[in-house]
Parts: sequence; structure tokens; C-alpha cells
Amino acid sequence: MAREKILFICRECGYEAYKWMGHCPSCHGWQTFQEERVSKGPLKTGSALQGGGEMQLLNDIAPLKEERYLTGIGEFDRVLGGGAVPGSTILIGGDPGIGKSTLLLQAALQLSSRNYKVIYVTGEESLQQVKMRAARLNLNGDSLLVLAETEYETIERQLLQSAPHLVILDSIQTMFKSEIGTVPGSIVQVREVTASLIQLAKSRQFTFFIVGHVTKEGTIAGPRLLEHMVDCVLYLEGERYQNFRILRGVKNRFGSTNEIGIFTMESRGLVEVDNPSALFLEQRPVDAPGSVVVPSMEGTRPLLVEIQALVTPSCFGANPRRVSTGLDYNRVALIIAVLEKRLGLQLYNGDIFVNAVGGVKVMEPAVDLGVSLSISSSFLDKRVLPNTLVVGEIGLTGEVRPVNRLEERLREGVKMGFQRCIVPSGNLNKTFKENISDLSPKLDITGVSTLAEALDFVLPG
Ligand SMILES: Nc1ncnc2c1ncn2[C@@H]1O[C@H](COP(=O)(O)OP(=O)(O)OP(=O)(O)O)[C@@H](O)[C@H]1O
Ligand SMILES: [Mg+2]
Ligand SMILES: [Zn+2]
Repeated sequence: MAREKILFICRECGYEAYKWMGHCPSCHGWQTFQEERVSKGPLKTGSALQGGGEMQLLNDIAPLKEERYLTGIGEFDRVLGGGAVPGSTILIGGDPGIGKSTLLLQAALQLSSRNYKVIYVTGEESLQQVKMRAARLNLNGDSLLVLAETEYETIERQLLQSAPHLVILDSIQTMFKSEIGTVPGSIVQVREVTASLIQLAKSRQFTFFIVGHVTKEGTIAGPRLLEHMVDCVLYLEGERYQNFRILRGVKNRFGSTNEIGIFTMESRGLVEVDNPSALFLEQRPVDAPGSVVVPSMEGTRPLLVEIQALVTPSCFGANPRRVSTGLDYNRVALIIAVLEKRLGLQLYNGDIFVNAVGGVKVMEPAVDLGVSLSISSSFLDKRVLPNTLVVGEIGLTGEVRPVNRLEERLREGVKMGFQRCIVPSGNLNKTFKENISDLSPKLDITGVSTLAEALDFVLPG
């Protein structure tokens, strides 16, 4: 029988130790060690990249033909950077029940109906359950291959025999190698199975979509290393009790990570949203204090998002609370400081809640002006001018700084019926005005150079 030993492994960096430690000497994480029972010598993760080990002139290397597998789901393909690259591994994480299996089964069915050989490996659901879901999705499943298996060696044997283009593994936490003595889902198993999958992908040009569960902290369960190993990391997110879902790129070796894909969860699966701005503004209260709409860029696409703020007096003697959802907390803190210092708003003894409505994350500084006006609006209990969009970055002296891609933002605003927009005056040069001259009958554009100016205009009197 193989000798067993107990190792303690850091979840973040994979550092191994023989005793438990509270603090990782390698990545300096706290409480990151996890006990694992390993029945073998040191683990090997060699490189099996094609042509590995031999030096070559960059010039002599034959380029890959830029073929990509299009899933046929436009939002998914865009987040992937224009489809999946052959031989790459793509990790998809998300909360339980959010729709990971649904999305991948949809993609698998579409790809297989276009003459790609696709294998769906299920470790969590039975073949009948997969069948049921496919029936619900109402897509043609004639040529999709399905395998219910969790042992890596068996899966590998089958994949080598049938040589597919794409493989879906649902999920990595259920797969195990029997030569490693630990339970499925342990750090060692997840790491070793993933390493082998990546080797297989590179040497055989299989494309893997790997489903990963997420932990309470919202990161993919298992070693952090997992995200470094694979080519692409996507998260499927959404508010639990609302039916839309956002697919977000966190890492992509073959494309931008700014893109998001937006879907709604329907009984026939995930459906692409054609007009996301409409979705996010759907239930907007008309003319309530604290509500401001900003045009934010999500990758290459402008998205109108409502920012809501609520400022209330803190309990006597308690520390004021500052809560932000969907926004950069530090940025919000900075904006509050600027409002206090430059505009003299007495926010220091108020609780402040700021929220980007609808579960989107808007992290770019171009929403600063919108956030500051929504906080001011709630604090002063005055409505923002109706039908108004607000865009601009804020500096520490209270100046409003120019933003990029203003034209696209304004066009999205006009599309959604907005009639007024407050923009940084620094953006309004001659060429810009010429470019958007067709918008002027529909959109009243006002340039501001300071926060005070914006406030006077938007919250008059
Ligand atoms: N008949 C149905 N009509 C509408 N929606 C459904 C139906 N059946 C399932 N769903 C939706 O699909 C979701 C399940 O999606 P799916 O199984 O793809 O999630 P998952 O991310 O793979 O979850 P897990 O992590 O548990 O594997 C459910 O939460 C539910 O919202
Ligand atoms: Mg699932
Ligand atoms: Zn560590």
C-alpha cells in the first residue's frame, strides 16, 4: 500500500508544509492552510507544451491559424474575445444554481450542431438530468456526446479515443485522479487534474471549458493557482432573486477582460439581452432624490446604469457607516471627502449608502460625477434635473476631468431617450462638437469644469 502522509497546503499559492501554519511564508496569506492526505511522493507537474524544451527562433515558429470556435451565443463569444481558441482551457466560475451548466450545455449543443465534435463530461448530474435540461433548452442535441464520469484516467482515455474539438467538464471539483490519495475537490486533486487537462489541451488541441465552484469569499474553490494555470477565467454572476446574469472576463490570454455578456435566465435557458441599458433602467424611480443615471463603458459597450445614494444621520455616538455596492469603495470615500472639503457638505456625521442598481459593477472613474451628484442629491433632499445623464471624473480639488469615449456614451443616452447630459467641459473641443452635431437637436449637452458648477446646474435653487 502506498505510504500516506499529511501535508498542509496553502490555498492561495500552493506552498506545502508538514505542519499547520497560520501565516503562509510564501504568499503571506493568513489562515490559508488546508490539511490534505497525500499517498505519494512529491507531486510532479512537468511541462508538455508542444516543442517544449527546445529553443527555436521566433521567426521559425509556424503561426497558428486564427480559427476560433464560435459558440453561437453572441454575448459568450464576445467575452471570450471572439470565440474560444483551439487548445485553450477556459474556467467558468459562479455561485451554485446561477446557470453555469445551462450556459455550457447551450454552447455545447450549438457547437455540436455545427459539425464540431463536442463531449460534455458530467460529474454532478446523471445522464438523464443532462437529457432533461437539453430538452428544456429546446436545441438540437443529435450529435452531442455525453459522458458521466469523474475519474480522470477514464476521461482521458475516452478523450484520446474520440479526439473531440471541445470538451466541457462539469465540474472540476468532482474530478479526481485515483493515483492521488486525496478526495475529489481537494487542493491537490484540483491542481493535478487541471494541470493534466492543460497538457492534454496543448498537446492534442482540445479546447476545455471547466466549471468551477466558488467559495463563500467569491473565488473559485480550490487553489488560487487554478486561475493562473488556465488561459481564461470567466465568472457568471447575478443577483440571486433577479433573473439576469452577467458573464464577466477576469482573465483572458486571447482577448480583453473588460467585456461583459448579459443574459436573462428563462425556462428555455440563458437568453441574450439585446438592450442592456433598458434592462438596468427598467424599474428606475422617476425623479427621486439620490437617483442619477450614468453612461458607463463596459468593455466596448456603453451601458446606462442608475446610481442611488441615501444619506441619513448616524446614530448618536456611533461611527458613520459607508456602504457601497457595485462601486469602488475607495473611490466613493474619495468622492465623499471632496464633497465635504470643496463643497462644504457636512457628511461626516451621516451614514452613506451608494449602490449601482441591478448588480452591475461600475468601476471606472467616469462615474465619479454621477456618484457625487447622487450623494449630494440625497443629502440636500433635492431631485436631480429629470432626463439627465451625468458623466465625468473628479479630481481632488473638485475639478471635473475629461473621460474617454464620450461620443459612444452620449449616443447610448439618446437611444434611451435622455434629453440632457452633463459632461466635462474638457471634452467639448471643436472636433468633438462636429462629430456629435447630429445629436444636438435631441440632446442638450452642458460642459462643466468643477463639481460646484455641476451641482448648481443639476440641483438648482
Ligand atoms: N424549468 C425551469 N424554468 C426556468 N428556470 C429553470 C428551470 N429549471 C432550472 N432553472 C434555472 O436554472 C438554474 C440552474 O442552473 P444550472 O444548473 O445551470 O446552474 P449551475 O450554475 O450549473 O449550478 P450548480 O453549481 O448547482 O451546478 C436554476 O437556479 C433555475 O433558476
Ligand atoms: Mg451545474
Ligand atoms: Zn501561500
